Amino acid sequence: MVIEKLSKKGKAVESDPFVSDGLHPDPKKLLKAEHIDLDILRQLKGQSVLSVKQFDKELVIELCKFAALLETTEIGKSHPLDGKIVITAFFEPSTRTRLSFESAVLRLDGKVLSIPEGQSTGVAKGESLSDIGEMFNAYGDVVVMRHTETAAVEEVMKNLRIPLVNAGNGSGEHPTQALADWFAILKWKPKLKEKRSRKQDQIHLGILGTPGSMRAVKSFLQMSLLFRENIKCISIVSELANPLGEELEQQLNESGLDFHITNDINEVISDLDVIYMNSIAFLGDSYKSLDSRFKLNQASEMKDDAVVLHPLARLDELDPNLDGTHHNLYFTQAHGAVFMRQALFISILNRFDRLQSDQFTEKSRSREK
Ligand code: CP
Repeated sequence: MVIEKLSKKGKAVESDPFVSDGLHPDPKKLLKAEHIDLDILRQLKGQSVLSVKQFDKELVIELCKFAALLETTEIGKSHPLDGKIVITAFFEPSTRTRLSFESAVLRLDGKVLSIPEGQSTGVAKGESLSDIGEMFNAYGDVVVMRHTETAAVEEVMKNLRIPLVNAGNGSGEHPTQALADWFAILKWKPKLKEKRSRKQDQIHLGILGTPGSMRAVKSFLQMSLLFRENIKCISIVSELANPLGEELEQQLNESGLDFHITNDINEVISDLDVIYMNSIAFLGDSYKSLDSRFKLNQASEMKDDAVVLHPLARLDELDPNLDGTHHNLYFTQAHGAVFMRQALFISILNRFDRLQSDQFTEKSRSREK
């Protein structure tokens, strides 16, 4: 189905063949004829992915290029995860994260052992997460875990000897979501992977949400700091007076990035290039709606070429009438997560030798043999 590119007033506008829009970003523009540096990706061999803090800009970019290669080639034919088992252990509901991780494995010919509901495990009988971690060692090669508790990662790691991928821990982090977010942004505007953007290419990033209470927003903001040379400024629009918390505020201050906080969306909306929004926050001991008064729809005073990201699930802050417009980068963000997660598995399990592509660096290839 071809979705027509619409202006914010709903009229069809002409496509610029040299600039991606939200609905049609082309992974090939991100990859071009560049090589993918396996030496950088090999840093992930045998590693757990727990936090955005583990990543530098170089690694994020190579992962995004690798994900773009996976998106544009029939890599599954070479069975990269043949013989490998990934355990997906979800102690908190999920649509996208669990399914995209599982889809990533199955499309690479690996196998999945799935716990879609934590209460189906010994947790219902009072079993500890650290004991469950000991069991994971025998049953799989990698574990992907989501949990309501921030401390769950530390708890399961006590006995875990296989790599763990953090798929969201309470109000803690969601590092692979941030990778999927930046994969979408770099497909939309590949120039942002440059070491330093020219002033006119830098983006004004808007965050409608509360990073201190929303793990996906927090991880996105932390990963955005790696791209500080490509960002003009960051505006945070939140209902709370202090939406960052101590650690994030310190990180932002140390980054040297120009940022400001407001509770009035109208102050900034018309200048934003990228708008990241969310309204589900972990407050106290449960999920609540926060910042849902900041709504976006076709009548919003956005720049004509602004794009919107949302980790989803959405409530009524993001109007479905934006779905068919070129502002919609959120479906690209969700769909591209499969390829980013494939890139992670192949890197963690070091299955590069299964892939045939002349886009890997010569140096790394010869070292493979
Ligand atoms: N983005 C995200 O974490 O969505 P799910 O809660 O559906 O996994």
